[in-house]
Amino acid sequence: MKNNVILIGFMGSGKTSVGIRLSYHLKRTMIDTDKWIEQRQKMSISDLFAEKGEAAFREMETDCLKELIRTADHQIISVGGGLPMRKENHALLKELGKVFYLKITPEAVYERLKSDTTRPLLQVENPKEKIRALLEERAPVYEACADVAVEVSDKTFEQIIKEICAESR
Ligand code: S3P
Repeated sequence: MKNNVILIGFMGSGKTSVGIRLSYHLKRTMIDTDKWIEQRQKMSISDLFAEKGEAAFREMETDCLKELIRTADHQIISVGGGLPMRKENHALLKELGKVFYLKITPEAVYERLKSDTTRPLLQVENPKEKIRALLEERAPVYEACADVAVEVSDKTFEQIIKEICAESR
């Protein structure tokens, strides 16, 4: 097993923002699977969903994890919100390191993402309901996939980083 710190959780749970701060605190570089895929494909996630479809994107996520198993160690890895939904990815995540689930309420996600246009899954008529339904389906899977769950809805970055650092040593 590799010694990476993996961040999973719903869209808007702060995986990227927490990851950047953790990378500073733990003096490790950070990889974001969405960014990794965008760079490889030379296309934004929105364009990928529109032009190649979600199924193709999910394949790319699994390919990304396989590649990271070959190349990444002692890093922070933030993964797309839907990546843990593929069973096959759980074993790959475990192989990559310790998995932290950033746990957030649907209300907090809505407040954070109500003006966001970069998440194709939330560009729907009723994003509030979509967030509620998706999170209800995903929460148990995130729990099952994670080594540690960290509540983030009402916490400062400082508190979240402190909790993760305490568990990641
Ligand atoms: C998705 C989450 C996004 C991105 C894509 C699909 C999802 O990543 O991978 O839009 O299915 O939850 P973030 O969780 O970083 O927003």
